[in-house]
Formats: sequence, structure tokens, C-alpha cells
Amino acid sequence: MSDSVVDLLVLGSGIAGLSAAVRASGEHGLDVGVVTKGSLSDAATRWAQGGVAAVIDEASDSTDLHLADTLSVGAGMCDVDAVRTMVAEGPARVGELIAWGARFDRDAGGALSLGREGGHSASRVVHAGGAATGAEIERVLVDAVRATAAAVYEHVFALDLLVEDGRCAGVTVRHPDGSLGTVRARNVLLATGGAGQLYSVTTNPLEATGDGIAMALRAGVACADLEFVQFHPTALAVDRHPRPLITEALRGDGAVLRDLDGERFVDELSARDVVSRAVTQRMLDVGADHLWLDCTGVDDVADRYPTIVAMLADVGLDPAVDWLPVAPAAHYLCGGVVTDLDGATTLDGLWAAGEVACSGVHGANRLASNSLLEGLVFGTRAAAAVAAGQSGPAPTGVMAGVLDASGSPATVALDLDVVATGAAGCDPSLRSVLQQAMTHGAGVVRGDGSLATVADVLAAVAATPGDASVAALEVANLAVVGTALVTAARRRTESRGAHARVDASDADVVARRFVSHRTDGAG
Ligand code: SIN
Repeated sequence: MSDSVVDLLVLGSGIAGLSAAVRASGEHGLDVGVVTKGSLSDAATRWAQGGVAAVIDEASDSTDLHLADTLSVGAGMCDVDAVRTMVAEGPARVGELIAWGARFDRDAGGALSLGREGGHSASRVVHAGGAATGAEIERVLVDAVRATAAAVYEHVFALDLLVEDGRCAGVTVRHPDGSLGTVRARNVLLATGGAGQLYSVTTNPLEATGDGIAMALRAGVACADLEFVQFHPTALAVDRHPRPLITEALRGDGAVLRDLDGERFVDELSARDVVSRAVTQRMLDVGADHLWLDCTGVDDVADRYPTIVAMLADVGLDPAVDWLPVAPAAHYLCGGVVTDLDGATTLDGLWAAGEVACSGVHGANRLASNSLLEGLVFGTRAAAAVAAGQSGPAPTGVMAGVLDASGSPATVALDLDVVATGAAGCDPSLRSVLQQAMTHGAGVVRGDGSLATVADVLAAVAATPGDASVAALEVANLAVVGTALVTAARRRTESRGAHARVDASDADVVARRFVSHRTDGAG
């Protein structure tokens, strides 16, 4: 690993990080490094199925409609400017992916084939290989980054942000051989994805341990909306971790949900939080651990969804004839590190894009297939802002309320006592204890009693030291992010979007945003 100071160090290799790296290195000529704890193509992006939501057909759709759908699903918590930016710039970013070689599905006439998912008022989801969209995008971006001069460091675990004179100056890292070191950078982009591994039932890969959010919290960087965890209603209910996802696109093509009596009970194309709650309630009513997804009415399912059909064949199911056992699973973290419209965070020199960020485009609940879009748009914007020499956050997007917390009654600061773990991890054998506690206490439906129980478990995990192995460091990060999430969830004494409380059925009149700040000295 080079000793020089790079212009931009990207942490993470999903759609946001690679989009930024390609632009920063290839287009803007910056000196770029990419650090990833796995191999370059090992990101959650590769697992994304449904696709990228973007207004492609202006005869039947418009960015105003996409904006309205996103705001409606976000339950009063989206930042309108951030959403407008995303829906306006998204189509061009999709066009660039195609120019770089992305092979999206097309109809017989050669036009992009557009799918429909929950909460969308038009068909606007661009997809590849039926439900292999993420894998196709990751393939194209990995190739594009490899073709630039960006230096790629694989199997290197970023531990903590290096902060000097109030500015991010790089990161401390753990090398593959276990030795510790430092990578210095003028700018660092967090593109480390989400934290689905907080839960024992999740669609997220094993790597999704909230590392970037934990690093930000430890450094005192503002994070928000962490209580809004989106649960996907149709993960395959089999004994696997992570649970295989059954794409929502199938419901757009006519698949229906059935309870154990074979009855339909919800509009399958409602927003994802609505469907997940309906499925969970029905499961609780009858004490079941799954309901059914009936895809037998979907035309040509084998031809159109080959990866799903192959995955199901592995467990002895054929969607053309079998109903599929499904249950909700933790899928996406709507909040994260607060950014302005260019990805700048509250720490000069630190940027964030993609699932790790709270850019304001998802609010309290993400519209289906807006996540790949967010990564594309805001990864690209962050690279451009770094290249333009922007330093420090501007009062735009979600950042506006955070910078002006005193003048914004809708922004509430949360005190967060985060233990600085540095290179010391927590006992890795406690990972499953933490995950079980989160699933039972901070799941699709939560209440203060269940959240208090999880808070105790998280405190116990955080206080149990481990070694400096990657497994131990990941558990330490999960404990930090889980603590911030549960703290915010306890303070949000209302039900809103993906945050549903058994002890509060309605949303408050004012949509408040809880911003986590570290209060234990440093940061
Ligand atoms: C899916 O394909 O159902 C998931 C897409 C998304 O997470 O938006």
C-alpha cells in the first residue's frame, strides 16, 4: 500500500463507491484509492435484484411522478431537494451505465423493459437478467474501475477515521496479515453500505456490518434516521443466513401473497412497509413463521427470472407450480451519515454516498429500486464535488437542518454514548446474540419494552472485549450502530414509515429528525 496521500480514498466497492472512483480517477484525473474489506466485486450491490428506478419513458412517466411516489412512500421524512436531484439526474446515470456496457433487459422492439414495483405509479424499473440487476451493474463498474489508474486495496479493513485539525485525513486500517497501518487521504468517501447484519433474519450479505456508520459515530460525525430499517416482505423463509430474496418485481408481474388459508390479504403493490407489516401481523395472528407467495400466475417465469428459478430449484421449489414460503427480512437502512446534496458530511474531508448515507432521498421508508439510483447519482456528485475542491458541508438537503439545528425544531439532537473501540473488537461469538435480540426487539414492529431489552443486550456486547480479528471488529461496529438505532427508535414515540411501534399507532404532526452525536468526550 502506497505511503503517498491520495486525493480521494473510497471505502467500499458497491455502486456508490465504484461510481465515485470511476469518475474521480477516469474523468477528473484525481489520485484515487479504493479500500474494501472483501474483494472488489464483493458488495451488497451484487445481490440487488429488482433494478434501478428511473424515468426512461417520458410518454408514460415523468420525474414529477417519480418525485411524488418517493415522497409519499418516505412518510414525510424525505428531503425534497435531494429527491428532486436524484430523479432528475438518474436517467442520465443509467444511460452512462449502458454506454459502459451494462446489458439491461429489453423488449422485442429493443426498448428497455421497465418493471413495476410497490409504491410506483408507473413502470420505471430498469433490470438485467430478470432479477440479476446488481450483479450486472457491479460487473460493469468493477471493469470500469480496473480500467482507471485507481489503486485497489482488497481485504483491507478500515478501522477508524483519522481526524487532524478538524479534518478527515485518512483512515487507520487492518491489513490482511493482521498488521495495523494508516492510509492518508485529502478526502475520504464512505461507501460502505448498510447494516443488515444487525438482524438474524436479513437479505443482506455477511459483510453488511455498518462499518462506515460506526466509524462516523465514533468520530462524532452526525448520523440520522437510523431507526428506519426497511424490511422486505418476501424473503424466502428457509433456514439460511442471509435469507434469499424473492424480488418485488414478481409481484409487479402478478405474483400474489396468500395467508395459510390461501387467502389474499393485502394489495401486493403497496409500499414495502405496508406489505411487511401486513405479512408480519398475519403471521403473528396465526403463530406462523411464513406465509405464501404465489407466482404461478406469472407468465414465462423461468425465462424471465432465471436466477430466482435456479435459486429456488436449489431448495426443491418451482415457482411455476409451488407456492413459496416467505417472511419479512431486514433489507435496507434508510438512514446513515448525514450529507448535503454533494455527499459532504459534518466533518471536512469526509463524504458519504449510498446506503451508508442519510442523503434524505428515502426518508422513513425507501421506494423500491431507489437505492441503486441513489448510489449512482450521489457517488457521481461526490466525486465531482471533491474534484471541484469543495470543502465542508453546504446548507443543502438534510444537512441544512443539521447545520442549523437551533433554528429547526424538526431536528432533535440525540446524546449517544459510544465507546471508542478503535482497533479493539468485541467478542465475535456474541454476533448471533446481538442479531437475535435485534430481530426480536427492534424488528418490523417494536415498542419501548422490546427496545429497552435490546439496549441492554447491546450494552453487554459492547462491554465484552474481543481481539482485533475482522470478526471481532465487525461485532464492535454492529454494537455501535445498533445502539444508535435503538436510541433513536426509543425516542421516536410515534409510528412513521418503516418505524412501527406497538405502543403508538399514529404519526406525530411534526416530522422530526433524530440526529446522533457522540457525547462521551471525543468527537
Ligand atoms: C427487490 O428486488 O425486491 C428489491 C429491490 C429493492 O431493494 O429496491
